[in-house]
Amino acid sequence: MTALEAVAERSAAGFDEALARDVAAGLTSRPKQLPAKYLYDALGSQLFEAICELPWYPITRGERALLTRERDAILARLDDPATLIELGGGNGEKLAILAGGLAERDRAATVHLIDISETALARARHTVAGHPSVAVREHRATYAEGLRMAVAELDPDRSAMVLFLGSNIGNLARDEADRFLAEIAAALRTGDSLLLGTDLVKPEADLVLAYDDPLGVTAAFNRNLLVRLNRELDADFDLAQFAHRVVWNGRESRMESHLVSQAEQTVCIPAAGCCVRFAEGESIWTESSYKYRPGAVVELAACAGFACRAQWIEPDAEFALSLFDVP
Ligand SMILES: C[S@@+](CC[C@H](N)C(=O)[O-])C[C@H]1O[C@@H](n2cnc3c(N)ncnc32)[C@H](O)[C@@H]1O
Repeated sequence: MTALEAVAERSAAGFDEALARDVAAGLTSRPKQLPAKYLYDALGSQLFEAICELPWYPITRGERALLTRERDAILARLDDPATLIELGGGNGEKLAILAGGLAERDRAATVHLIDISETALARARHTVAGHPSVAVREHRATYAEGLRMAVAELDPDRSAMVLFLGSNIGNLARDEADRFLAEIAAALRTGDSLLLGTDLVKPEADLVLAYDDPLGVTAAFNRNLLVRLNRELDADFDLAQFAHRVVWNGRESRMESHLVSQAEQTVCIPAAGCCVRFAEGESIWTESSYKYRPGAVVELAACAGFACRAQWIEPDAEFALSLFDVP
C-alpha cells in the first residue's frame, strides 16, 4: 500500500485527510518541507498573537500605525454600505481599525472573514462584534477557496475591497504570489480594490531577531507544528530532537524557518502512512517570509492587473501598505 492509499484508508478513522496527504508528500520530498498554513492550529494562532506583541517583531506595530494614520484615505475608497473581504485576518484587530472608522461615521459594512484557523475566526468574530453596524460572514477556508466563497455572495451593484495584510503574501513563493494576485484580480470587478501589506527588506540582524526572538516564542510557534502532528496524526516526533533555525536567504529575499533534526532518527506518522528518516542536521522547511522592496510590490500587483492608487511606508518597521484599484 502506498503512503497516499494508507492516508485514504485511515482518514475514515477521523484524521484530517488533507493534512495527512500534505505531510506524507512534504516529508518524503527533498528538501523536506511542510506548508506554513499548518502552523495555525489553536495554539499556533495564539502563539502568533504573542509574536505580534514581541519588541523584535515590528510588522504588526508598523501596519497598525499605517492603518490608523491612513484610515480616512482607505475608507474614502469604499462604497456605502462597504464590503470588505479579509484574507487570513488572524484576530481581526487590523480590520477593527477600519470598522471603527466606519462606525464613527455611521457607515454600515459587511465583512467576509476568511481564515484556515477556527481559533483566528473566533477571535476576529469577537473583535468585530464590538462594531454592531458591521455584518460578519465567516469562511473557514484557504485564501483561494474563501475568496471564491465570498465573491459568490457579493452584491453586483456594490464595490468590494480585499484586505491581504500582515505580509501574509510573504508566505507565498514568488510564483505563487504572482498567481494568487492574478486570481484576486480575476475575481474582482472594475471599481473594486486591494489593500496589501508587505514587509520590506531590512538588515539581516533585525530579520533574524524577528523570526528567532530571545524569548523563544517564534521557536515555540514553529515547533508547535510537531506537537500538532503528534496529536492529529499520531506521529512520534521527539520535540527535544528538533531545533528551530532561521536563515536569511538574500538571493531569494526571504527568511526561511526550519526545524532541524538534532540526531539521525526515524519518525513514524501512522495517519500519514509513512515513517521518515532524518539525518543529523537535516531540516524540515516550515515557512518562508519573503521581503519586498516598495517598487517590487507595485510591479507585482501591476503584473496581476492592479493599478496603484497609493503606497504608504512606515519607516521604523520598514513596512509598506499599498492600495490598488481594479481598473
Ligand atoms: C501571519 S498571520 C497574520 C494575521 C493577520 N493578517 C495580521 O496581520 O496579524 C496569517 C493568518 O492567515 C491564516 N492563514 C495562513 N495560511 C492560510 C491559508 N493558506 N489560507 C487561509 N488562511 C491562512 C492564519 O490562520 C493566520 O490567521
